[in-house]
Amino acid sequence: MIVQLENEIQNQIAEQNQTAINEVLSGLLQRQKELPCKYFYDKRGAELFDEICELPEYYLTRTELEIMKKYAGEMADCIGPRAAVIEYGSGSAVKTQILLQALDKPSLYVPMDISAEYLEYSVRKLSRHFPHLQILPVQGDFTDYLNLAPYTRWASKKIIYFPGSTIGNFRPAAAKRLLRQMFTQCGPGGGVLIGVDLLKEKRILEAAYNDSRGVTAEFNLNLLQHLNDVYGSDFNSQAFRHRAVFNSRQSRVEMYLVSLYAQTVAIWDRLVFFKPNESILTECSYKYSITSFKRLAQQSGFTAQAVWADANHSFSIHFLNRP
Ligand SMILES: C[S@@+](CC[C@H](N)C(=O)[O-])C[C@H]1O[C@@H](n2cnc3c(N)ncnc32)[C@H](O)[C@@H]1O
Repeated sequence: MIVQLENEIQNQIAEQNQTAINEVLSGLLQRQKELPCKYFYDKRGAELFDEICELPEYYLTRTELEIMKKYAGEMADCIGPRAAVIEYGSGSAVKTQILLQALDKPSLYVPMDISAEYLEYSVRKLSRHFPHLQILPVQGDFTDYLNLAPYTRWASKKIIYFPGSTIGNFRPAAAKRLLRQMFTQCGPGGGVLIGVDLLKEKRILEAAYNDSRGVTAEFNLNLLQHLNDVYGSDFNSQAFRHRAVFNSRQSRVEMYLVSLYAQTVAIWDRLVFFKPNESILTECSYKYSITSFKRLAQQSGFTAQAVWADANHSFSIHFLNRP
């Protein structure tokens, strides 16, 4: 059963859309130009991300799925019966299906995603597989706190599911802020089940974000087309190239769009100038060790209750408990 969104939540989302415009422009006016990576996910971006997940070089999805399949029962034991599951960045919800299958009578599922296409697809799919599960889809930015208390009061506890190592897209201070938000949102007795990519050889990391078929390059460049479509800018995506490098000092993979020549781009009432080879930082993907992520979780108030990883220690899934 899909629960209808009430006015209160819809108003909260409208306010969030206003701030999006300022966010894009202020990123492009910085010395190192930046664009928020959440704008990757229009319809085409979502299709390209799903293609990336199937690429041989992109070990992340394959490995996280393998861990989910192997340990979903243990994860369900940590979570317990009748939990409300709130998912940040639910995407096509492939891993969610494994989790929901393993859980004992989940009481509510709240997928949150910026992409309407992803939400529509995942809700249709999950309501077919779990016809008795209440589903409350929320389209918007999960970094903006939504008070979901009125919808979850019948649940035994609130669990936030955050797979895909999307936490890696946040700088450490922002990641801590987001974990603090989850701490508040899940409430006492609640928890977080979160996928975290682990630090590994530079060669493997760079290959994952520079695939040989060029799908990641297309995904990165599509961001410019998305901004043109939604905000009326006039980026020429053929005037930029994709670049991804591992920054070992900061333990993160950085994705850039590099301007091929000097050019000017119009965005609303502003002009943004690019020098030849000037870049826009479009995504950071921080890589953690199990210990460094546990430390971050503990600094955010959680108890790091359990962790599962693959045999090569390539990827990890943590269960964080709010005492
Ligand atoms: C890396 S994908 C992960 C998808 C899926 N959870 C998985 O594990 O395969 C990131 C997902 O989060 C969504 N997303 C990214 N930033 C977001 C934000 N700030 N607010 C809401 N959704 C966001 C994207 O639309 C996309 O579905």
